[in-house]
Amino acid sequence: MAVSHSAFVVLAFLVICSVCTRNVDAGCPSGYKDCGYSRGCKSAVKSDVKNCGNCGVKCHSPSNATPVCSNGVCGYRCKQYFKDCDKRKDNGCEVAIRTDVKNCGRCGKVCPQFKNAVSQCREGRCTSKCMPGYSDCNNDMVKDGCETFVMGSDGDNCGKCGSKCAFNQYPFGVYGCTAGKCQLIQCYRGMTDCNGNITDGCETNTYSDLNNCNGCGSVCAARPHSSPICVNSLGCYFICDEGWSNCNRPWEECRVDIYNDVNNCGECYNTCPTGYSCKKGVCTQ
Ligand SMILES: *[C@@H]1O[C@H](CO)[C@@H](O)[C@H](O)[C@H]1NC(C)=O
Repeated sequence: MAVSHSAFVVLAFLVICSVCTRNVDAGCPSGYKDCGYSRGCKSAVKSDVKNCGNCGVKCHSPSNATPVCSNGVCGYRCKQYFKDCDKRKDNGCEVAIRTDVKNCGRCGKVCPQFKNAVSQCREGRCTSKCMPGYSDCNNDMVKDGCETFVMGSDGDNCGKCGSKCAFNQYPFGVYGCTAGKCQLIQCYRGMTDCNGNITDGCETNTYSDLNNCNGCGSVCAARPHSSPICVNSLGCYFICDEGWSNCNRPWEECRVDIYNDVNNCGECYNTCPTGYSCKKGVCTQ
């Protein structure tokens, strides 16, 4: 019993000793340690991100960064196109310098803001884009930005820089730049440009034209016993032929035969006595 006990103590000592000598740096050159999982002094604790400064010390990387171990101290290096502008470790390399208008290309480089323009950071360089409807017609962004509103009524910059559109009086209408387009601005009341040819202006009187009555192409079609008329903005009406009536409903057809109808003899609702007939609009026995 005593023999086997002492044998166990010796064995235990050998095992413990072999483990402890492995983790002891004794014998490793400066900057190296034997961290156990590979034989010998393989871990360069000055630069190994898994054993930085000491065995088992892992370097973690904040966002947009890669970990580094430098002289046995954990740090991090920003990934390409990212920078740690606020020097805070918790948010890592928080700035994307290719697109950040406040840190464009480098920390603190703020892209200038010009009049009627939106500043942008593209590939790390400041650029400016005119706001919708505006243009930099004088090519001087720094001085006055996108100074010209081209989508309005500017006859010298109509729709785009330098596009001319003179204000003109045309027959029965006015032509010029409006909403960035060279176009008819307004026809006189009752007149319309039905043929789309600006030379003759607003050539059609849609307040009287039977073929364009209160609208281009709106035809006052012929109806029985009547002549159509175009009445300004009201549209088509009908003048009844002699002997016919629409009984004061001008939008209706002239279907009442007041020369021969015993119920509407001579005028609407004039009924002839029994036994009478209506001849030429007169009740006749
Ligand atoms: C436009 O109107 C003018 C004047 O009436 C005429 O001389 C010209 O030929 C017209 N143009 C077209 C394309 O119809």
